[in-house]
Amino acid sequence: MKIFVDTANLNEIREVHSWGVLAGVTTNPSLIAREGRDFIATIHEICELVQGPVSAEVIAQDVAGMVKEGKLLAQLSEHVVVKVPLTPNGIAATRQLSDAGIKTNVTLCFQPAQALMAALAGATYISPFVGRLDDISVDGRELIEQIVAIYAQDPDLDTQVLAASIRHPIHFIQAALAGAHVATVPFKVLQQLFLHPLTDKGNEAFLKDWQKVPDPDICGAVERFLATRR
Ligand code: G3P
Repeated sequence: MKIFVDTANLNEIREVHSWGVLAGVTTNPSLIAREGRDFIATIHEICELVQGPVSAEVIAQDVAGMVKEGKLLAQLSEHVVVKVPLTPNGIAATRQLSDAGIKTNVTLCFQPAQALMAALAGATYISPFVGRLDDISVDGRELIEQIVAIYAQDPDLDTQVLAASIRHPIHFIQAALAGAHVATVPFKVLQQLFLHPLTDKGNEAFLKDWQKVPDPDICGAVERFLATRR
């Protein structure tokens, strides 16, 4: 499973990019509005930095408007993935954008039939919102499992399952176990993915014990050893 970060905040994206695990970025109108910056400049800057799939969402609700916005957004960078809502017009726009060779991310998916419709329309990614289902006491993991199972029935479907609305590390693990191709994760949750108290405790113990070693400076010790062999 690949990791995307779910944010429009460039500092967060730079930090995750520095970890060497970032494959892409997803944004949405709320995430863009939260940053208060120019939408187009932000998307372009993210594409330049990440050099991987970057989802930019259309705001038009009619087919022609979605297609027009999507085709223009796709001209910003080869990395732009046009995000469209899972409505009948969004599905129709997905088909037209897909036929035009433009990558799409069909978003706001909450039940498996929606995901099949998106795949049949040629979606590159489908975004099931795990957290928002959990928020209303519906098991979001089950939706991921159902979509993966439905897509597996038809080898001609090549839409990637992009688990979204990830609220905590358990959602991330569940998405990976369920066979999602990608999880798009908020920065705060990504930071949590590293953490375990036993890792910290074990590392502290290693550092403490290492101080008992005769020559604890590894670099100096290697250089001195190699010098004796020249
Ligand atoms: O950006 C799509 C999705 O990940 C947003 O999820 O529920 O955190 O707004 P949410």
